[in-house]
Amino acid sequence: MKILITPWILFGVLLLFADACTMNEDIKRAPSIERASFGMIDDRELFLYTLQNANGLILKVTNYGGIVTSLFVPDRKGVFQDIVLGFDSLSGYQNVHPYFGAIIGRYGNRIANGRFELDGNSFELARNNGENHLHGGIKGFDKVIWEATEIKEEGYVGLTLSYLSKADEEGYPGNLQVNVTYKLTNDNSWEIHYSATSDAKTVINLTQHSYFNLGNSKDILNHELLIKGNHFLPVNAGLIPTGERRPVSGTPFDFTSQHLIGERINLEEEQLLKGGGYDHCWILNSESIENIAAEVYDSESGIFMEVFTTEPGLQFYTGNFLDGSLIGKGNEKYNQRYGFCLETQHFPDSPNHPDFPSTLLEPGNKYESTTIYKFSTK
Ligand code: GLA
Repeated sequence: MKILITPWILFGVLLLFADACTMNEDIKRAPSIERASFGMIDDRELFLYTLQNANGLILKVTNYGGIVTSLFVPDRKGVFQDIVLGFDSLSGYQNVHPYFGAIIGRYGNRIANGRFELDGNSFELARNNGENHLHGGIKGFDKVIWEATEIKEEGYVGLTLSYLSKADEEGYPGNLQVNVTYKLTNDNSWEIHYSATSDAKTVINLTQHSYFNLGNSKDILNHELLIKGNHFLPVNAGLIPTGERRPVSGTPFDFTSQHLIGERINLEEEQLLKGGGYDHCWILNSESIENIAAEVYDSESGIFMEVFTTEPGLQFYTGNFLDGSLIGKGNEKYNQRYGFCLETQHFPDSPNHPDFPSTLLEPGNKYESTTIYKFSTK
């Protein structure tokens, strides 16, 4: 008798086990933050913070440059994928690299000839991109060490990164106190809140430079993109906006309905040729955090990313300068178009375009900006 029912008992146990496994996917975990050493720079120990939300999403951040080194989100099958480009260790980030995952400041994007005027005074900035200033200069916010404070609140775990950028750093006026808070929420959003104050008039345009790849194929050309922007800013050969606000309608820059990134990227079109692909700022139709700014979907993995922002512009960059010379995480060679960036920001070179939305920060005022990348599957 005993021998007869054993297989049934076994079967039952197996069924229960299988059921527990399926249920496991829905089980909520306690959100957590862990801190580990990430190496030393200038006798200061750096840390890597691992933030995990209630659904198992993981955001790894170092206080070196505020760099997001990994972002694990579930694909359609529930398997967690790391969807950002980067390196396995600090040394990769200390070598020259194209701002993988970093906080960009004081000024995201380019300022023509590294020069601007405020109240009749001319300011000369570091020129690190030909004759232009790019992404805050030679030692921008992507290469500084930030003070980090862990946050655990109802609904999210987070990290506040703080940095005092002294007057004259990279040529900018004013002592600028900057705080950037990353939150990983239980509704699977990565929220970024920027704030800053200055003791003298200055300009500011902060952004985040993560390179995303939502798929399993190596390049991002089969990702579907939507950008809620009816106009974009054409650029000159140095990728500085000409000042024109050009309608996207009838051009390869029209992403007002979904298009594959690769569909038109190789057309012999003057602006695409200047950028070597997409490397342009879209003027967003809305500056409300309630409204979608952009959406990206990879039909292979099923991962869907929505972008919301308070910023007026969105730089869409298709990793055109990646050339296979960088070996990233897991020994992967990063070839051209292996990642894309959606950098929420004010327009490039605004300090030299009085008709662009202002990037001026005056003493007594507070710079504030919020961006949300939200993840789900379809
Ligand atoms: C930005 C710029 C690009 C390029 C990358 C970094 O997104 O728009 O032109 O400089 O950063 O390589």
